[in-house]
Amino acid sequence: MEILGIDIGGSGIKGAIVDTKHGDFASDRIRIETPQPAKPQAVAEVVARISGHFGWKAAIGCTFPAVVQHGVTLSAANVDDEWIGTDAKTLLETHTGNPVIVLNDADAAGIAEMKFGAGRNRRGLVVILTLGTGVGSSLFINGQLVPNTEFGHLIIRGKDAEWRTSDRARQAKDYSWKAWGKRLSEHLQYMEALITPDLFIIGGGVSKKFEKFFPHVHCDTEIVPAQLRNRAGIVGAGIAAVDLM
Ligand code: BGC
Repeated sequence: MEILGIDIGGSGIKGAIVDTKHGDFASDRIRIETPQPAKPQAVAEVVARISGHFGWKAAIGCTFPAVVQHGVTLSAANVDDEWIGTDAKTLLETHTGNPVIVLNDADAAGIAEMKFGAGRNRRGLVVILTLGTGVGSSLFINGQLVPNTEFGHLIIRGKDAEWRTSDRARQAKDYSWKAWGKRLSEHLQYMEALITPDLFIIGGGVSKKFEKFFPHVHCDTEIVPAQLRNRAGIVGAGIAAVDLM
């Protein structure tokens, strides 16, 4: 099946038609700068432009970088506060004229990784962490998503974990791989203490540098890099919308 997947991020809004059977793109990927400030109305207009670009007249899967419950965005760690309490699903459906499912960006990436990437055929408890501007998380139990886990905002050493283990924190504070790996280890160990996972999958842009930080990351659980790289969000959004078709 082909479905339009859209990934709303803090700096870019990206979309492509997803081949949900193969977990790949069935079109070119289009990227439009996220309007600043990234208020709901302005972002919805960009989503409508992307839908229009593909002449899309069917379901759309759309990610959002915050908690999304039943189509309503409930947090805004790295986006405009106006999103808190916004009925994003209705907003995007009105703008695009299409049925839309909205889900957390890390949950979408996790869906794609579990189906087509590093989590394929993995049972038990799997945690996918996306390390980018923020830290996103998704949790799967025997392949079934538990949405909106937000493990990126655990409090570690009195601080929001995202400020220690995001790729943005690594760059902003100029951490060495070793220093950052130590922080990431603490984050993973804390999650181990809470839920004893079977597998950690590390995604986000920094996952392509996995070999650099992996030697400095220590915990008892198996850790592997994500495989879908920057396709994960869009592909996962497309898969999530299959039920709307
Ligand atoms: C948000 C999450 C999101 C992550 C990655 C965090 O700040 O709270 O909902 O998944 O950033 O974008």
